[in-house]
Amino acid sequence: MNKSLSILSFVLTLLVNNGAFAQTRELSVNTDKVIAPIQPTMWGIFFEDINFAADGGLYAEMVKNRSFEFDVPLMGWTEHNSNRFAVATNAGRALIINRGTGFTNPRFARLAILQDKGYGLTNEGFRGMGISKDQEYTFTMLAGQLEGNTTVRVQLIDSKGVVAGEAQVKPDSKDWKKYTARIKSSTTDPKAKLSVWFDGKGVLDVDMISLFPVDTWKNRPNGLRKDLVQLLADLKPGFVRFPGGCIVEGRELATRYQWKKTVGKVEDRELIINRWNTEFAHRPTPDYYQSYGLGFYEYFELSEDLGAEPLPILSCGLACQFNTAEVVPMGELDPYVQDALDLIEFANGDVTTKWGALRQAMGHPAPFNLKMLGIGNEQWGPQYIERYEIFAKAIKEKYPNIRIVSGTGPSPDGELFDFAAAELKRLNAEIVDEHYYAKPEWFFKNANRYDSYDRKGYKIFAGEYAAQSKNTVNPDNKNNWLCALSEAAFMTGLERNAEIVVMCSYAPLFAHAEAWQWTPDLIWFDNLNSYATPNYYVQQLFSTNKGTELLSITGVKEKTALTGQDGLYASAVYDNKTKDIIVKVVNAAAKAQSATISLSGKRRPTGEAVVTTLTSNDVEAVNSFAEPGKIKPVNSKVGLSGKKLQVSLQPNSLTVFRIKTK
Ligand code: AHR
Repeated sequence: MNKSLSILSFVLTLLVNNGAFAQTRELSVNTDKVIAPIQPTMWGIFFEDINFAADGGLYAEMVKNRSFEFDVPLMGWTEHNSNRFAVATNAGRALIINRGTGFTNPRFARLAILQDKGYGLTNEGFRGMGISKDQEYTFTMLAGQLEGNTTVRVQLIDSKGVVAGEAQVKPDSKDWKKYTARIKSSTTDPKAKLSVWFDGKGVLDVDMISLFPVDTWKNRPNGLRKDLVQLLADLKPGFVRFPGGCIVEGRELATRYQWKKTVGKVEDRELIINRWNTEFAHRPTPDYYQSYGLGFYEYFELSEDLGAEPLPILSCGLACQFNTAEVVPMGELDPYVQDALDLIEFANGDVTTKWGALRQAMGHPAPFNLKMLGIGNEQWGPQYIERYEIFAKAIKEKYPNIRIVSGTGPSPDGELFDFAAAELKRLNAEIVDEHYYAKPEWFFKNANRYDSYDRKGYKIFAGEYAAQSKNTVNPDNKNNWLCALSEAAFMTGLERNAEIVVMCSYAPLFAHAEAWQWTPDLIWFDNLNSYATPNYYVQQLFSTNKGTELLSITGVKEKTALTGQDGLYASAVYDNKTKDIIVKVVNAAAKAQSATISLSGKRRPTGEAVVTTLTSNDVEAVNSFAEPGKIKPVNSKVGLSGKKLQVSLQPNSLTVFRIKTK
């Protein structure tokens, strides 16, 4: 070969290898062929009080251990100028009184205030308290002035020890009474504290010492953190699963989630230890408790605010099988089943019923319109199936329209999964929850998981999933772009199977940057800020582009769905409200690929499409507090030529095309 020919051949090889002459892949969307409706519930959220998601997170209470009910009654509190071993030098001292059984909030602090000034309590908050300049905070406290005359001075203290705001209340009754004050902050600080000083000698009983931002979601007292709810609202979720997760089950039956303990007056809700407090030796969180300030009423209200269907999951009489695996004997399940029936009454019952009346008393006479209920979380074995049967029968007898969600356990395959799947099929289960925590490779590989599922069997709830960059429960797992991209690829498979897949949710939802137990998580926050992960944006792109009807999309070359051929994955829907054809394509290859999306059928494009791209040139990249928008969707527009859309798919990208039609 002469020299110029060999240079030409080298250049050609280079161009071919770099895809310069790669064929444009043709994707064909048949707009007449509606495969199934997309359920409004298709993309939702999974909420569990793990990683400080409720107390210390979404629930905006800033005082930790406000009712002295933690195992160590003064955990989170510092007592000033008190020495329990040298009574003479005390400015005051606290005695923890326990009223004993019959009280759901048995403890309170009896303060003997021995000097006019100098005695006080400081609360450290949940890894500090986040205060913002010029924002107001509502302080409340239950108190009874048994003897003497005390003024309560309340101060916000910044991380340098400087007073950032002050107010006072004056107890004026021997009986328990609620006192309220507003404090304005002069500074912004994520690590502030609350000091409560007791001036003037006397004996004062105190309980439920609380501090909330005034600016909560919808300005509700006892409310939720606004920025975090906003992130949920921006997902436009179709449902909210609550309260978990393993927290439903409890490490033992005694610490299972009991919804009745989470409703009614906040001060009467019985606090328990959070099961994630001690779960992982490598992430101990000794100060993690459930105050239930965010209880079932607040949950139903939140679902309503978000326009999402509530999906409560209840204990089926089986404690977490990874922990004690305690079971309630079959003959003693009645109270558990009754809890499920009563929850439906609480949500939907007439205000003349016992639980409907409580809902009304709490401020919501109208029903919450609950349509579905989950029985058990990640249970397995015959002990689950036989308990599920009892629940399903009782619920259907009384509430035939409530759809029941059951589950196949923690793993998406294997003996236990196969057993549960076969049994639930035999029992004509309606919606079955499957969980997948696996490496990104699993998600890429399983984009076709549901292609072969029985169309006549139960519906699928992809109830917990997240790609793990290392492995499940590894504290080094990251919310990196590769994980998010693999979830996007998998989600095209969920969407393509919307005929049977009716609900999907990433898990877990929230994590406090300084108090988490489990990673990866969809949203990270500290006491002032929050940021969305790339995984969040994947969820958002699917949810806000969910459409109403599933369309067929195939690779013309392969005459079949794209489930990873050359790294490509695709799904398509039609939105009958906006008249948009929406195509989602994942290019998991490290090179750009060009494609033509060809539309057939009666729908006529206007000639324009909005393109949203989510990508990064580094698959290890993550978002962070410092760079919250490092990976985020970017919008552009592109024109069509007739019914063809010529596109370039960036390397390692998820692209959503909204093709307008007339
Ligand atoms: O999402 C974290 C945990 O993973 C859930 O509590 C449990 O259901 C699953 O094992």
